Amino acid sequence: MLDFPTFRLYITVLYETVVEPTFVMLDDLDLAQSQTTPDFRRRRRNRMGLMDGKKGVIFGVANDHSLAWMIAEKLHAEGAEMAFNHLPGEKMERRVRKLAEPIGAKIIAPCDVSKDDDVENFLGKVRESYDKIDFLVHAIAFANRECLTDRFWKTNREDFKQAMDISVYSFISVCQKAFDMFREGASVLTLSYLGSVRFVPGYNVMGVCKAALESSVRYLAADLGDLRRVRVNAVSAGPCRTLSSAGIGGFDKILEHYPTKSPLRRNIESDEVGGAGLYLCSDLSSGVTGEIHYVDAGYNMVGW
Ligand SMILES: NC(=O)c1ccc[n+]([C@@H]2O[C@H](COP(=O)([O-])OP(=O)(O)OC[C@H]3O[C@@H](n4cnc5c(N)ncnc54)[C@H](O)[C@@H]3O)[C@@H](O)[C@H]2O)c1
Repeated sequence: MLDFPTFRLYITVLYETVVEPTFVMLDDLDLAQSQTTPDFRRRRRNRMGLMDGKKGVIFGVANDHSLAWMIAEKLHAEGAEMAFNHLPGEKMERRVRKLAEPIGAKIIAPCDVSKDDDVENFLGKVRESYDKIDFLVHAIAFANRECLTDRFWKTNREDFKQAMDISVYSFISVCQKAFDMFREGASVLTLSYLGSVRFVPGYNVMGVCKAALESSVRYLAADLGDLRRVRVNAVSAGPCRTLSSAGIGGFDKILEHYPTKSPLRRNIESDEVGGAGLYLCSDLSSGVTGEIHYVDAGYNMVGW
């Protein structure tokens, strides 16, 4: 006869080695099978998306590496409907159409943000389809190549004005011209980089632009919040390979440097910017405005 403690030990061992693993295995099997059934797929399709019924505007998709596209993909996956601009020209239009049409974008139209008429015409087209918008993403920057390869102190007046106009003023301008369309509580997002507050070799005039952009985020957040409870934020992204970043002198060195110093010991994936963009455009961040939100594997807070 077994005494009670030994009997209990037998039962415990039997349960942990045979019964429990069997249930776990059956659960896994069930889950795996259910995920492939039409019913599961239908339930997944029919689940409420975070952005269901929301409409917005995306400025700055050039190709499938663009950070604007990373954000748009996440917004689309959660049910958002979007209008896209592209730089004037057939080639740019083709590139953006290839991406935006398959996700059901009805408005894909040219807009050079350095031209007031372009911005007005583009937003006029958006207005014809959408009475109100829930979000606006501004992911645009430009500086003459020499400004990003030569030394900063050589920046000339014209290049400075152009970089500030396209990379900073355009943000104020699109907010101004879209203002009547913003639904109360709408969210506006732009993209910045650490070069705004630290010296980063090669970032040069764009660092000055990003400093002005981040300051604009705060002033716009105050005004638009007061006038229509509209939120204004920026994602400050770690380095990602895109068309724009290819123009920054020494960009490869920046990419190599981040994993050696960032707390996460890596660079970010572009789609992590997409995730943060989704959060800031959605009601999940309803209490957040005037914020510069770093998505950089923690690099910005390291002091050595
Ligand atoms: N890639 C990075 O490492 C990185 C890091 C931090 C911040 N950012 C910022 O992200 C934003 C998007 O850049 P990206 O890296 O995705 O590169 P990208 O080249 O894909 O996007 C830049 C976009 O700006 C547009 N643009 C330039 N001049 C314009 C004009 N006059 N009118 C209208 N559109 C114009 C281009 O067409 C392009 O779509 C920029 O503000 C950039 O500074 C990028």
